[in-house]
Amino acid sequence: MNSYIIEQCPPLYIDRLVRRSSIRFSPIDMVSVIFLAWILNSVDAFNDFPSLISANASMAVVIEKSFFDNKADYRDVVRNIYNFIANITREEIHMADIDIHVFRDTKIDNFRDYTVLLSVATCHQTWSLHNIARKDEIVHLAITEQDCPRLPDSEGVSVPLISPGKELSQIFFDIRMADALLWNNVNILHDDTFDRDVVDRVIKAISISLPNKRFNLVSRSLFAFTHGDSKRKRRYYIKEILQNFHVDRLGKCFVVIVTIDAATDIMEAAKMLNMVQPDSQWLYIITETVIGNSTNITTFIDLLSEGSNVAFIYNATDSNTYCNNNLMCHIQELIVALATALKLSLMTEIELYNDVSDEEFEIVRLNKRERHREILKHIKIKLVQDTFVTGGTCGRCLFWRFASAITWGNFFARGKNNAYLIDSGSWFPTLGVNLTDVIFPHIAHGFRGINLPIATYHNPPWQIISLTNSGEKKYSGLVFDVVKYLGKKMNFTYSVLSSESNRTIKFTRNKTKIDMVLTSTTREMPPAIIDMVIGKRVLLAVCAYTVNNCGKNKINFTIPIFMQTYSFLTAKPGQLSRALLFTAPFAKETWACLAASIIIMGPTLYLIHKYSPCSTKISGLNSSWQCIWYVYGALLQQGNMYLPHFDSARWLIAIWWLVVMVLVATYSGSLVAFLTFPNMDTAILTLDALLANKNRLTWGFPNNSYLEEYLKNAEEEKYHILLKQAIIHNATQEMEIIEKVKAGKHALIDWKSTLRFLMRSDMLTTGGCYFSLSTDEFMDEPIAMIIAQDSPYINIINAELHRMHESGLMNKWVTEQIPTKDKCSDIFANQGVNERKVNVADMQGIFFVLFMGVTGSIFLLCCEFYWHKRQVAKRRKLIQPFLS
Ligand SMILES: *[C@@H]1O[C@H](CO)[C@@H](O)[C@H](O)[C@H]1NC(C)=O
Ligand SMILES: *[C@@H]1O[C@H](CO)[C@@H](O)[C@H](O)[C@H]1NC(C)=O
Ligand SMILES: *[C@@H]1O[C@H](CO)[C@@H](O)[C@H](O)[C@H]1NC(C)=O
Ligand SMILES: *[C@@H]1O[C@H](CO)[C@@H](O)[C@H](O)[C@H]1NC(C)=O
Ligand SMILES: *[C@@H]1O[C@H](CO)[C@@H](O)[C@H](O)[C@H]1NC(C)=O
Ligand SMILES: *[C@@H]1O[C@H](CO)[C@@H](O)[C@H](O)[C@H]1NC(C)=O
Ligand SMILES: *[C@@H]1O[C@H](CO)[C@@H](O)[C@H](O)[C@H]1NC(C)=O
Ligand SMILES: *[C@@H]1O[C@H](CO)[C@@H](O)[C@H](O)[C@H]1NC(C)=O
Ligand SMILES: *[C@@H]1O[C@H](CO)[C@@H](O)[C@H](O)[C@H]1NC(C)=O
Repeated sequence: MNSYIIEQCPPLYIDRLVRRSSIRFSPIDMVSVIFLAWILNSVDAFNDFPSLISANASMAVVIEKSFFDNKADYRDVVRNIYNFIANITREEIHMADIDIHVFRDTKIDNFRDYTVLLSVATCHQTWSLHNIARKDEIVHLAITEQDCPRLPDSEGVSVPLISPGKELSQIFFDIRMADALLWNNVNILHDDTFDRDVVDRVIKAISISLPNKRFNLVSRSLFAFTHGDSKRKRRYYIKEILQNFHVDRLGKCFVVIVTIDAATDIMEAAKMLNMVQPDSQWLYIITETVIGNSTNITTFIDLLSEGSNVAFIYNATDSNTYCNNNLMCHIQELIVALATALKLSLMTEIELYNDVSDEEFEIVRLNKRERHREILKHIKIKLVQDTFVTGGTCGRCLFWRFASAITWGNFFARGKNNAYLIDSGSWFPTLGVNLTDVIFPHIAHGFRGINLPIATYHNPPWQIISLTNSGEKKYSGLVFDVVKYLGKKMNFTYSVLSSESNRTIKFTRNKTKIDMVLTSTTREMPPAIIDMVIGKRVLLAVCAYTVNNCGKNKINFTIPIFMQTYSFLTAKPGQLSRALLFTAPFAKETWACLAASIIIMGPTLYLIHKYSPCSTKISGLNSSWQCIWYVYGALLQQGNMYLPHFDSARWLIAIWWLVVMVLVATYSGSLVAFLTFPNMDTAILTLDALLANKNRLTWGFPNNSYLEEYLKNAEEEKYHILLKQAIIHNATQEMEIIEKVKAGKHALIDWKSTLRFLMRSDMLTTGGCYFSLSTDEFMDEPIAMIIAQDSPYINIINAELHRMHESGLMNKWVTEQIPTKDKCSDIFANQGVNERKVNVADMQGIFFVLFMGVTGSIFLLCCEFYWHKRQVAKRRKLIQPFLS
């Protein structure tokens, strides 16, 4: 093994080996040599491909017979290829060599023992060879026929042999292999000067599925227009085709294959028919060469409109250069690149070998896959160098360039429409497409991170302008949440042009109420902002604005970003008076029954007692009146000590006691409950309840409210009553109205969110909860941003907003900024649960009764005295017969 290595090694390595073995030669050395041999063997087991140092690189050459038109060519190539390659390698790499094995047959199972595969085969055969080569991780260099999808960049290099004038289809194959156009549908427009064959092949290149790629083309349609003899005629034909075009059905992706003058006509027509929009894509293929005096691609700039997506692929072949496009030239090009790559790879390996010990080298050296990648990288670099720097022998035959129009946002950024073109790539037969940017930069990157002006004004919670500690303006609020996200999605930053509004002044003066929104505030927009939008000085006005009909012909609304529902606010229902709490456990009827039963029970008892046989006089039961007191006393569990002697009366009293027990237990149980849970008045929570209470309270809503219009047009009768009796509030009356609502005399109708805000801020200032919000919601008010009428971006902005709605982001922002749960209702619910102490107010009723009782008895006492006196006087007046 050692000797085998020495034979291969460059002098440096041998030197080192010799030095190593000559310094010390001992049995230990022998052991280590054996050990090294063992290591090399065992390491080979998992890195089973020899290093470039220890073995020559090996190349499999596969040449397919059917690739050649005639047999003579084929035999010629096969006979000469070995020497041809050997000669090139000898010239290029001096240190090592390439072992070449030429296969005449294409039926090969594996390339496990090779470093490189060079194939000259038809497209189909190339790809089946490639599948084997990929499995064995070897470098695949392929020369194939034209209209063949190229091997992926990371797996090999393929060169289609293209004859000039027929490269168009290959360009499309290459674009698709590079994943540069991922269209679902495509409309191909071409003029009839093109060869049927050219167009057919382009269509095939666009619409067949590619190896190892997802195929996502759904529809394609083809339109040919007559070139026409004159410019006027041509324009007429073009317009006719575009006018009848069904964008909805056929999609908005266009490939236009034309000559340079027809391209101009189509661009004009498409612009006129409004077919060039931010969501459409126009790819112009300009076939005639534009080098030299012929037309200059920059002339198209004037035809580009704001917000369009236009790209050009144009023929930049310099027809004056010498062009050699034959097979041998390409083979030579590839072999030279391969030889260079192998040399570089070998040099790196030697360097590594010198730096580390043998054992380490075996572990760290590249394995087959890494070597594959490294060699391929060097080959690519060499080919690119050849093409760009030295002009490449075979590659210069054809040269196409890609240009993309940068049109989005230029208007705002510079004040006038000046689009420009950027170079986005190139195409060479050897290298395929090389894109330095995407073909449609705006489709992929939106506004490409430019800074756009937007307009806003202070209107919390929609738009909040605040000052940071460092004195800079900070923008936040709901609409800014939306715009920040929009900016992220559409890739723009913004600078804000703000307008002073009345509200701003009001709120800065009265700082403590900065968060307090008193009434819905999206019905008006400062005229300055509308002017900015109309004058197209801003992309859009980032302001919440109720969708309405003002400025109908100058501005457009985006789709609604938020919906506001209306609701009304009334005073929180108070507790019912607790003065008569002790009567509360029984209903009036119960009390009446109770009183009646006492009054009936008294005489009944008396009668039963009296007519029972052998009735005896018992004190306390001697009259009806006394019996009533007796029954009453029993009710209060103050029983008389005397019981009737007979069972009939006793039975009656026993039953009465039973009744008393049930009554008392029920009463005291309920009384505890009534003391603990306060009894509330019923709240007015629905529209019907509000209307039913129209004699007790008034209602109203802010002036110029959207509600007014809605109610006017409503069909239901109750809305008409609501409107008829409503009081329109002035903006200046806010505080007054709130006090009125608190006092329970008025109901304020406004957005639910505004009312919640109002409740919250009132709670923060007063610490109490004095309002209740209705559960009825009766109208949706759409709120949107505004944008200039002819702005091209309205549709894509709407689409983004729609996505935000669907993903639930809008709801998230709304719940963050606007409280959805009013704390008042929490407090309200918790109140009953808290422990309650029975206070004087709860007991006032019974004290009052006591007072009345005392007063009553004093009165009766007076009456009795009076009556007694009169009796005495009467008796004195009577002349009493003297009885002796
Ligand atoms: C490598 O190539 C050289 C030159 O062709 C040859 O002399 C040598 O035997 C080859 N080595 C191996 C290991 O095949
Ligand atoms: C591109 O230009 C070259 C040189 O003028 C010409 O030979 C070739 O046919 C053109 N390609 C196409 C597709 O027309
Ligand atoms: C370019 O234009 C010049 C005169 O303007 C003319 O002499 C020359 O032939 C033109 N070259 C080509 C390739 O058209
Ligand atoms: C194309 O025309 C513009 C002016 O319209 C000029 O600045 C530019 O250099 C021209 N480009 C070529 C390649 O001739
Ligand atoms: C692509 O083109 C640029 C110049 O336009 C060049 O610097 C780069 O090396 C090329 N890359 C490839 C992979 O061809
Ligand atoms: C925004 O545009 C810049 C410039 O084109 C680009 O580099 C960046 O990737 C884009 N960002 C997104 C998210 O598309
Ligand atoms: C813009 O407004 C006009 C007139 O109000 C209307 O016809 C047009 O459809 C609107 N455009 C969009 C995209 O909503
Ligand atoms: C509202 O204000 C205007 C003037 O500002 C006044 O004329 C009108 O009477 C006010 N309305 C009410 C209901 O107070
Ligand atoms: C409502 O506002 C309008 C102006 O928009 C004004 O003319 C009218 O007087 C206002 N009504 C009340 C009741 O304030």
